[in-house]
Amino acid sequence: MSIIEGVATGQLVDTDSSLTVLDFVREFFSNPAEVASLLPSSSFLHREIARQANLKSAKYIVDLGPGLGGTTRSLLQWSNNQARIVAVETNETFVAHLSQLGDARLSVVHRSAADLRQIIEDNDLPQADVIVSGVPFSTMDAATSNAMIDGIYSSLKPGGSFIAYQLRDRVCQLAEPLFGPASISFVWRNLPPLRVFCWQK
Ligand SMILES: C[S@@+](CC[C@H](N)C(=O)[O-])C[C@H]1O[C@@H](n2cnc3c(N)ncnc32)[C@H](O)[C@@H]1O
Repeated sequence: MSIIEGVATGQLVDTDSSLTVLDFVREFFSNPAEVASLLPSSSFLHREIARQANLKSAKYIVDLGPGLGGTTRSLLQWSNNQARIVAVETNETFVAHLSQLGDARLSVVHRSAADLRQIIEDNDLPQADVIVSGVPFSTMDAATSNAMIDGIYSSLKPGGSFIAYQLRDRVCQLAEPLFGPASISFVWRNLPPLRVFCWQK
């Protein structure tokens, strides 16, 4: 299945979806382990991701767990006109919303981030320059989170950056055996304050 088919073949439930923070809160209460945050992330977090990611020179960017698309919009804003951004999200309400962002550089995939390697292969995409992830590693079972980290590592090109914004440090335990130690910054002004873990492959 191609990315475009993934968006167009009926995996979407709502084709006229304009969501607000309240909708995000509602999704959190419906799926707390999946959504994992009561509120969408802030522009303070988006700026920190952009600072770490060297977006101007990035051609292929992957946004895992984009939710309402705050991270996606900032990646689109700070990357160049030739960049391609692939957003991978499991929540069908968010997928419907993201598919309406209306930027030709963006492809939205309704699938798990644990399938990233397969998504890249199925769609003949090169390894990514940057992979950004908000998926909640701390609420996943070990098999899924290990598959996800393996897929992230193999989908990133040498020298590429993996940036994970998280409340807990489970991602560190998972990623360090492959990537080595992370550089860590804190975004205190996000609600809740988050850590941004950054690795270069
Ligand atoms: C903490 S929220 C972050 C949302 C958004 N990026 C933000 O910054 O506000 C986590 C997001 O990851 C998504 N998610 C959870 N598990 C996932 C998975 N296995 N694959 C892709 N997305 C996933 C959730 O649906 C949710 O949108």
